[in-house]
Amino acid sequence: MGTAQHTQTAILAHNLELDSKMGGGLPVGSLTLIEGANGSGKSVLSQQILWGALRDGFTTALFTSENSVSSMATQMQKIDLDILDYLLLGKCRIFPMALSNAGEQATISLANAIRSQQERDLVVIDSLTQAVVNTRENSKIVRFFERCKEFCANGMTLIVTIHSEPVSHELVNTLRSMCDANLKLRVEQDGQRMVKTLEVSKVRGASSTTGAIVGFDVEPGWGMRVIPISKARG
Ligand SMILES: Nc1ncnc2c1ncn2[C@@H]1O[C@H](COP(=O)(O)OP(=O)(O)OP(=O)(O)O)[C@@H](O)[C@H]1O
Ligand SMILES: [Mg+2]
Repeated sequence: MGTAQHTQTAILAHNLELDSKMGGGLPVGSLTLIEGANGSGKSVLSQQILWGALRDGFTTALFTSENSVSSMATQMQKIDLDILDYLLLGKCRIFPMALSNAGEQATISLANAIRSQQERDLVVIDSLTQAVVNTRENSKIVRFFERCKEFCANGMTLIVTIHSEPVSHELVNTLRSMCDANLKLRVEQDGQRMVKTLEVSKVRGASSTTGAIVGFDVEPGWGMRVIPISKARG
């Protein structure tokens, strides 16, 4: 599985500070959970990593609950992540998903859709929130993550974003423990201002960076920019 001919073992965001906080990137074949509230940066971060992977020659697929293909490309362009060439070359595929209508079947359909992309190196799901909220049985969500882990075992790198607030603590804890990497995004008070932060809760094989917190901004024409915050550590 996987079409990239190179030997690179990690997916990089190609943002020096972010990549170093993430312990040198997300290992190829890992499952990453990105958590955060509305507007905390789940989409921007996952788009940044998607773009970094494309730059390194990986093939990618993005399942989005937010955008059409053209609006996604336009939105990414605004933060200096130009994916048009990759879309035209087939290196990047974007699939809008209509999870609100799928009800209890949402996670099953989604897992099947991911399987249909199994030759892709990196697959991003942004976001899974609607599907989780629509699914009454937690075991179905856990089953979805088990299937994700099977795809990863075959070489796919998977990123799933979720707004964890509407999800039970018990389920979120289970999902975290199933993932190789866990990134938590927050909007918090830092002195007089509100800043966005990224906490690297874990990245497999990168224990030294665990717990690192970095502040960042999202600026048009710039994308994610790491900024100093007073509570930064790690
Ligand atoms: N193209 C852009 N230009 C400038 N700022 C942007 C752009 N896209 C997103 N942002 C800003 O970046 C921040 C993070 O947005 P993002 O869409 O990544 O959040 P999110 O966690 O995905 O939210 P949601 O749960 O609503 O999907 C927001 O403050 C948003 O206004
Ligand atoms: Mg989003």
